[in-house]
Amino acid sequence: MAALARSAAAVAALALLASAVAGEVFFQEKFDGGWEDRWVKSEWKKEDNTAGEWNHTSGKWNGDADDKGIQTSEDYRFYAISAQYPEFSNKDKTLVLQFSVKHEQDLDCGGGYVKLLPADVDQKKFGGETPYSIMFGPDICGYATKKVHAILTKNGKNHLIKTEVPCETDQLTHVYTLILRPDATYSILIDNVEKQSGSVYDDWDILPAKKKRDPNAKKPEDWEDEEFLPDPEDKKPEGYDDIPKEITEPDATKPEDWDDEEDGEWTAPTIPNPEYKGPWIQKKIKNPNFKGKWKAPLIDNPEFKDDPYIYAFDSLKHIGIELWQVKSGTLFDNILITDDPEYAKKFAEETWGKHKDAEKAAFDEAEKKRLEEESANAKTKDNDDAADEDEGKAAGASDEENKDASGDEKVEEISKDASSSSDKKDEL
Ligand SMILES: *[C@@H]1O[C@H](CO)[C@@H](O)[C@H](O)[C@H]1NC(C)=O
Repeated sequence: MAALARSAAAVAALALLASAVAGEVFFQEKFDGGWEDRWVKSEWKKEDNTAGEWNHTSGKWNGDADDKGIQTSEDYRFYAISAQYPEFSNKDKTLVLQFSVKHEQDLDCGGGYVKLLPADVDQKKFGGETPYSIMFGPDICGYATKKVHAILTKNGKNHLIKTEVPCETDQLTHVYTLILRPDATYSILIDNVEKQSGSVYDDWDILPAKKKRDPNAKKPEDWEDEEFLPDPEDKKPEGYDDIPKEITEPDATKPEDWDDEEDGEWTAPTIPNPEYKGPWIQKKIKNPNFKGKWKAPLIDNPEFKDDPYIYAFDSLKHIGIELWQVKSGTLFDNILITDDPEYAKKFAEETWGKHKDAEKAAFDEAEKKRLEEESANAKTKDNDDAADEDEGKAAGASDEENKDASGDEKVEEISKDASSSSDKKDEL
């Protein structure tokens, strides 16, 4: 009896514990039935006909055709869509923002990020200028930009993460997770693997640094920062500087047909002197008093005023996707906002994790087909070219021109890249 009571109490305690650690889910979107009622398509860019349409699909390759997300479906278009959840603040809470993204188009310039926004957002007008709190996710543009953005907005200013976090660049689904904790630490995960972590204080320039080098400190007179010194034991050998660089060739003789009157006075040619060793260089020895490079000591930075809520946002109420895409095909799915990293991990395992192998197999199959078609096309083209040969250089010349034109375009695109697809978008 007593034993039973004890174990019942233990079960109750366990259940309590479980409910205590189970986190809160602020928003979760798997884009199944009815998703269009939950999301608002913005009217931004509609007037100039550059607003792109979303396609509700699982894409060209997937691990489960019924598991759909939303995919950008038109090239050279702006995309802006958002959804709402009950307003909350992440003060004193962990915040986890997670989603999956797949760039089926072999993305060369475009974003794959999402934004969290405060309460005062007009979803119908949501666009590139709408102030946001957090922007997070991959961004690819040319060769220079292949990174995970993590922007925190404080007092109206966007602060980019200072550490370089490379993003995935293949054509498969990947899960991006940002965790902000109440101790002002953060982690960035890709596919449930931590890629970066640290302190919000250190990795964003939100506040001035806590410590700085003392500007009034001076290097002590006796500080030795020369690692090596000339060896006083090593002396220049006597007569070293008298050794000539070149000498006359000892075996040279005046050629028999040399005519002093016509050819000028004969002189023997010179050759490099094997004795000559270059200018004398004194040997160096390690300085026994070497102390390393001098640095001013760190002092408290008077500019620093702590903000214990450096990681927090008063109002979070919307999630938005706002992108410019040169080539469409970016597919978002399984968006999650929670305070529970363990739940997020499981959610990623049960969605992306469950389907990733099948998706990879489907992709490999699609690639194989594409390459086969490409080589078949190349063969027909070769035959066509052979037939065209008689038509002379005109066709060939225009071929060349085409090549040049596309080559130039590419170069220009890359040099225009600036630092990200969002910069590129702003230029338009
Ligand atoms: C939507 O995606 C599917 C799968 O890739 C594709 O077959 C279809 O043509 C797309 N629809 C539009 C309107 O782009």
